[in-house]
Amino acid sequence: MPRWTALFLATLTVVTGLATWYWLAPTGPPPGLTPKSPAIPPSPDPLLQDWPPDQLTLVVSGEQHGYLEPCGCSETQSGGYSRRADLLRQMTKRGFKPVPLDLGGLVQRRREQSRLKYQTMLSALADMSYVAVGVGPEDLALGADFLLSQGDTESPESSSSTPRPSLLAANVRLFDTDDLPGAPLASRLITSGQHTIGITAILDPALARPLAAAGALNDVAIRPPEDVLPAVIESLVKQGATLLVLLSHAPIDTSLALARQFPRFDIVISAGGPEDPLTDNPRQVGTTTVVTVGQKGKYVGVIGIAPRTMPPRTNFELVNLDNQRFSDHPKMIQAMRTYQQTLEQLDLAAAMLPIDTSGNRRFVGSAKCGECHTQALAKWKQTPHSHAFESLITGRAGQEDHWVPRSFDAECLSCHVTGWEPQKVLPFKSGFVDKNTSSHLLGNGCENCHGPGDRHVALVESGDVEQSLSEVRVTLKQARRKTCIACHDLDNSPKFDFDTYWPQVAHPGRD
Ligand code: HEC
Ligand code: HEC
Ligand code: HEC
Ligand code: HEC
Repeated sequence: MPRWTALFLATLTVVTGLATWYWLAPTGPPPGLTPKSPAIPPSPDPLLQDWPPDQLTLVVSGEQHGYLEPCGCSETQSGGYSRRADLLRQMTKRGFKPVPLDLGGLVQRRREQSRLKYQTMLSALADMSYVAVGVGPEDLALGADFLLSQGDTESPESSSSTPRPSLLAANVRLFDTDDLPGAPLASRLITSGQHTIGITAILDPALARPLAAAGALNDVAIRPPEDVLPAVIESLVKQGATLLVLLSHAPIDTSLALARQFPRFDIVISAGGPEDPLTDNPRQVGTTTVVTVGQKGKYVGVIGIAPRTMPPRTNFELVNLDNQRFSDHPKMIQAMRTYQQTLEQLDLAAAMLPIDTSGNRRFVGSAKCGECHTQALAKWKQTPHSHAFESLITGRAGQEDHWVPRSFDAECLSCHVTGWEPQKVLPFKSGFVDKNTSSHLLGNGCENCHGPGDRHVALVESGDVEQSLSEVRVTLKQARRKTCIACHDLDNSPKFDFDTYWPQVAHPGRD
């Protein structure tokens, strides 16, 4: 049995019952009261104000790139499946019948954890009643065989009550074979109200080229979209589609060109835009509306299509999934919990292949350093760096009640323990493995900034202090230029500023 099958089955068996059904208290003052404190941030615009709920409404997302939920590293992060599910819940409550579509590009990395995450995301999308999901190059890089296992096969094993969304990629062929069970489909037809919607998807071959060159796209063939689209459009029209939608996993310019070349599409949803697609959105190409939804799932686009207009008249709102209008949805909290429990059971972080440190030096742990550098250790213990691991278990202050512990998640450990490469998300040899094996490497220890210290200690102990210094030397200049931002990057520490942050963790060297 291939590993991913084992993984898939393992996931299925741990999917447990319903979460406790609770909601966060709504934010903002109760009606009739004006906020007293000017510190309360201005409320964002009301959602879909004056939108008639009886029109056809598409909810479009894409290029999640692994950002299943905001990490909580900073208070203000947008996005996440939980709030997206809440948006859909709010819309349904107001009488909308949203039709959710995704461009694909669910994950970012090629590894076992990403396969598990892809499965988690696909079943979460099913829970949100997604009907179609495109395929990004990152998804294909998880393996053609893996992708086949994720598609519609209607096997008796998948007795889940919610049908999975269809994977769509009209120009992608796996194993050089047509109509393989489970392979992405060319199109899908659905009806909603008076509309019959024909949905198709393409992946731009140029986007896949880097991964193909790295040998990551075996058994995958990607044809030029313009070769396949005419037949797909024809067949959808023949089947009675009244509205044609293209999920275009392509740079925006390519999507605009496709809209020009195939004016029959009413709506083109494009990947490849900026992370925050706040300007030039939507664009109009003849009668085709082209929208982008950004990256990392911070936003979703909502497209309303007025009834009985030909060509269809659309309106569009780019919804920022902020923490003021949206709260966490219990079903998505449960999906995250199941995902984290599976990571723990499969012990994926501990099983990762560690990389070499420079000069094969080894990590010894902050307590060892503190045997001689008592003041530096005492200072470090007072900084948040010393309890960074605990933050993965408890979350930020105020999040405790619905926080899902993430201390087995490599994508969190990499900056919250000692001895990992933060950006590659890989452990170094002798770096943190798990809480029991590596209790000396919890938190962001001395050696994440100073480098692994075994040789420094050995040299000091053998009396060669002068030689020992270069092993652990970090200058302020180096720190300013690169040490901190390996972890304090734009995603995880948007307010980082060396001159205000460094004084908070600066430490004396001598006792
Ligand atoms: C690339 C490095 C990096 C990764 C990966 C990372 N974090 Fe963080 N995290 C940070 C930094 C840096 C801070 C401090 C940010 C600040 O205050 O400016 C932080 C802060 C936090 C805090 C706030 C702690 C507090 O009490 O203030 C939480 C909670 C947290 N991270 C959880 C996570 C989770 C969960 C993950 C995985 C999904 C994760 N982090 C992944 C770097 C990272
Ligand atoms: C056995 C005692 C001992 C241990 C253990 C030890 N050090 Fe040192 N360290 C010294 C001595 C002695 C010096 C040189 C005198 C000084 O600067 O205090 C030094 C110097 C340093 C310096 C200054 C380097 C420079 O640029 O001049 C740094 C940084 C440092 N140690 C970090 C560490 C770290 C990190 C650890 C743990 C991995 C560690 N030390 C463990 C004894 C020790
Ligand atoms: C290996 C990753 C890593 C490196 C390198 C790193 N940090 Fe951090 N830092 C973190 C994490 C994780 C947190 C959040 C700790 C927590 O509360 O859980 C944090 C928190 C902080 C905080 C507290 C912020 C707050 O909101 O209270 C300061 C200050 C800070 N770091 C400064 C620095 C400086 C300055 C450097 C470089 C000299 C640096 N850090 C290097 C991971 C790192
Ligand atoms: C967030 C990164 C970071 C962490 C964590 C960190 N250091 Fe440092 N450390 C630095 C930087 C940067 C300098 C250089 C400061 C300077 O030149 O003014 C430094 C300087 C030092 C020095 C030399 C100070 C001097 O006066 O020359 C020692 C000794 C030292 N650190 C030990 C430690 C020990 C022991 C720990 C853990 C208990 C530790 N450091 C944790 C970044 C860090």
